Amino acid sequence: MSTVRARVFWLAASALAAGAALLVFRSKKRHAAHPASPPPDELAGRGLAALGIVLVLCLTAAIGAPMLLRAQAAAGRERWAAAITGGDPARAPVLMVRNGCAGCHVIAGVPGAQGRTGPELAGMGRQKFIAGLLPNTPENLAAWIRDARRYDAHTAMPSTLISKAQSRDIAAYLYTIGR
Ligand code: HEC
Repeated sequence: MSTVRARVFWLAASALAAGAALLVFRSKKRHAAHPASPPPDELAGRGLAALGIVLVLCLTAAIGAPMLLRAQAAAGRERWAAAITGGDPARAPVLMVRNGCAGCHVIAGVPGAQGRTGPELAGMGRQKFIAGLLPNTPENLAAWIRDARRYDAHTAMPSTLISKAQSRDIAAYLYTIGR
């Protein structure tokens, strides 16, 4: 459980316990003052049920809201990456396995991508240069992915010569992973 969620949970649980104690106390007092009012157990029971509902709502919000925000942020990032590259990030993982990228790079979200020949491909979105060589623009990233040796004849990264559309799909994906 994240610290925020744990805090909300304990806050809600403490509020529930304090509320329950207060309800029992007040319903006893009320019954003593007005003997015709419902017995303390019944009042306290009703109050507890209401507090239970509040607790469930608090927990749902505490767990659901961060998940929703994360999902929205990820979707927004994917739309942004698709817009700047003209590629589809969803198509990239399988392309990166098929074209050997996974054998040389660690790439989040790509099965078996644990290669250590090249650097881990994380945080391309905030990197200034590609391979310390090309200014990091969507066009340059796609071009490097397609034809690395054209830009650095001595790099260990081969020119994969995949299609331009595929290199844009991969570039889009690389902009979505690692903040
Ligand atoms: C044979 C190993 C090898 C393969 C296969 C390979 N790369 Fe690389 N890659 C490297 C190396 C080594 C570097 C570092 C190049 C440099 O800095 O000169 C690199 C650099 C990169 C960079 C720049 C990283 C940075 O931090 O600037 C990207 C992006 C990249 N590779 C993507 C890919 C993609 C996508 C594929 C598959 C289409 C791929 N690579 C296939 C070895 C490889």
